[in-house]
Amino acid sequence: MKRTMRTLLFCGLVAAVSMTQGCGQKAKPGVVKAAFGVMPDGRAVDLFTLTNRSGMEARITNYGCIVTHLTVPDRNGKPGDVVLGYDSLSSYLAVNPYFGCVAGRYANRIAKAQFRLDGRTVRVTRNDGPNHLHGGRAGFDKKLWTAEPSDSSAALKLVYTASDGEEGYPGSLTATVIYTLTDDNEFRIEYEAVTDKPTVVNLTQHSYFNLSADPSTDALDHTLLILADKFTPVDRTLIPTGELKSVEGTPFDFRTPTAVGARIGAEDEQLRRGLGYDHNWVLNGWDGSLQTVAELADPVSGRTMEVLTTEPGLQFYSGNFLDGTITGKGGIVYGRRSGLCLETQHYPDSPNKPKFPSTTLRPGETYKTTTVYRFSAE
Ligand code: GLA
Repeated sequence: MKRTMRTLLFCGLVAAVSMTQGCGQKAKPGVVKAAFGVMPDGRAVDLFTLTNRSGMEARITNYGCIVTHLTVPDRNGKPGDVVLGYDSLSSYLAVNPYFGCVAGRYANRIAKAQFRLDGRTVRVTRNDGPNHLHGGRAGFDKKLWTAEPSDSSAALKLVYTASDGEEGYPGSLTATVIYTLTDDNEFRIEYEAVTDKPTVVNLTQHSYFNLSADPSTDALDHTLLILADKFTPVDRTLIPTGELKSVEGTPFDFRTPTAVGARIGAEDEQLRRGLGYDHNWVLNGWDGSLQTVAELADPVSGRTMEVLTTEPGLQFYSGNFLDGTITGKGGIVYGRRSGLCLETQHYPDSPNKPKFPSTTLRPGETYKTTTVYRFSAE
């Protein structure tokens, strides 16, 4: 075959597969859909690849709204995947410590799996010792969402309607998540929900980040900044005691960038209870507007991730339960703290804590929050 012919064919193939505009040109932002497998009941599951003009790619499946890959250039422009996950749907279906998913209807914990709402006791599924965690046994992370890719930008809209009584929650709730990859290397997440009965809602994104793109080693050398003067200390079952405690003089003070591992082994009752960091920070100056609240940086690759949110809290979970029993993408074994979660949300157990910002949603109201993970390399 002649060289020009081969080149032409190659260009055609690239264009068809990745929606690029031709060889050598920057890719047009867009979404490509592919099959990812089937649910145990036979429903087809898809995988969507979002690409922008600045070298980022996000792969998202409509099973659990899971971000399976997030590829970001390092300081030399070399792309690397910065999230933990699996290569196949069957692995996600088998065991998933919430890799990349949207957790809901109520992300994080509800004490003793119950709360009072409008004078009635609501009982939700107990799936974490005595407590409720991440929406129950089959939370939003285990549901098949309907997906609608944008035909003009790198955006994907996912919708799931939970039935009245699902996992114990009152009200049929329709949740919408829009993922967008902008040309400024922002990964934007917009959440919305409406209900037909009073209920509680708290949605978060549960990606495990390792900005080195090499999760065969832990992420304890990443530096972390959290703009929070206070955090919510927890009891032995990781339920907030209700106190908003100053971070001053504690290993929870991340008001200046500090290596995650610098104090994680300190003699500290709260770190002992969390087996490391697994706590909610009370973000400074919360007013519902989109604000920068945290920044994670990997000194080796130069990748930096800024976190912006409209939410009042940030759960920083240092991957303490990863223990080498999970083999992830590319056959890499995920050891302890090989990925870190920065989950924007309302405070844990808010339905039982009248002094915490409310998570109640009523018919006629719209739950609306935004979180942005903004990437750069220095
Ligand atoms: C959350 C919790 C952790 C843990 C992980 C999933 O971040 O706070 O305690 O349950 O999810 O393993």
